[in-house]
Amino acid sequence: MSSDIFGRRLDCWINIQQVTTNSMMLRYSHTGWSTPVVAELTGGSEPVVQEQTGNLAGRFIFEELTPDTEYKVKVSIKDEFIELAFRTLPLPRQERLFRIALFSDTHLSTRTNACHGRLHSDSIMLVRSLMQQAAMTADYIIGPGDMADGGKEAEFAALESIIKSVNIPVLAVPGNHDVVHGGDVRFADLFKNTTFFFERDNIQLAGLDTGNGRLNKPCNREVVELIKTDKPLLLFSHFQLFADEWIPDADKVIFDSDECVDMLEKLKLTHGLACIGHKNVAAQVKINDFTQINLPQLTHFPAGYLVLDVYYDEFRLCFEPIPGEILNEYSRLGTEAARYHSHPACKFKSEYRDKYTQFYWNGVVKNGLYL
Ligand SMILES: [Fe+2]
Repeated sequence: MSSDIFGRRLDCWINIQQVTTNSMMLRYSHTGWSTPVVAELTGGSEPVVQEQTGNLAGRFIFEELTPDTEYKVKVSIKDEFIELAFRTLPLPRQERLFRIALFSDTHLSTRTNACHGRLHSDSIMLVRSLMQQAAMTADYIIGPGDMADGGKEAEFAALESIIKSVNIPVLAVPGNHDVVHGGDVRFADLFKNTTFFFERDNIQLAGLDTGNGRLNKPCNREVVELIKTDKPLLLFSHFQLFADEWIPDADKVIFDSDECVDMLEKLKLTHGLACIGHKNVAAQVKINDFTQINLPQLTHFPAGYLVLDVYYDEFRLCFEPIPGEILNEYSRLGTEAARYHSHPACKFKSEYRDKYTQFYWNGVVKNGLYL
């Protein structure tokens, strides 16, 4: 029996998390330890069936798929099922230039609890292990803010120790959680600055300091001045520069847009991708050849980081969830029980937080530039 709510319930949330050129990964959760969960993939030459028993939450991964191909996956538990569709990504036309691992809103904390489903107590373990994992294939780690949870010395000390254990450059711009309790000074000291601008392989990388929600600062004007509108651009900011239509919170976007019309108008003319932290719900804005996306965080469902593969004419995104769904499911249920973080049109906060994971955190973002 199929119904609109199966797989979209408080106790059963099933959704595709990762799609690549040749693989798909979905997550599930349900209530029966001993109830088999069956996933049947169709669309390839012949159906592929996987079954798991003994989990309250888990993942199915289908590999060796054909690029640029439509598939369907049917997930069944007892006599109920949900069907989800996806399309594998096309193969890139060019050689990859470099790779960035995007760790936004790590909210590194020394707290030992995990209230409202926020995984503070596991944050140091998650950041350390996953930054080290990402560094095995990435050229840079970049964090668009809220690296620390409360601007505290102990949090920055933990972050510093993790950064030292990673053998690739780690860059970041501040978020509102970094700059409280004197954290702004510590942040600037740790990351040498609160903005950055450099080029790699003819790609511009620019970090803006919107940690206090404001863009109109000399340091940001200096960076925007350096940006050329005829070259690919990767931009990093904690607050949104342009308001999206999915996240309802008023504090998602910079507070001083009216003072920054000149800078924002210039950014609209660029060929780029802006990677935004703060709200950590998959959302997107497209203006001409400029795309802005909101990034995931490591410590809140759907918890993970993004891998960004950089090509001259496009950017490829892939969501890497934290290992396993057990912590993620705890975070999901805690979020459902909390009063905050939802959308008025969503019955469940899981829908608000996870609705566009498959689409905005996995895919190809064209920048309008072709060799
Ligand atoms: Fe934030």
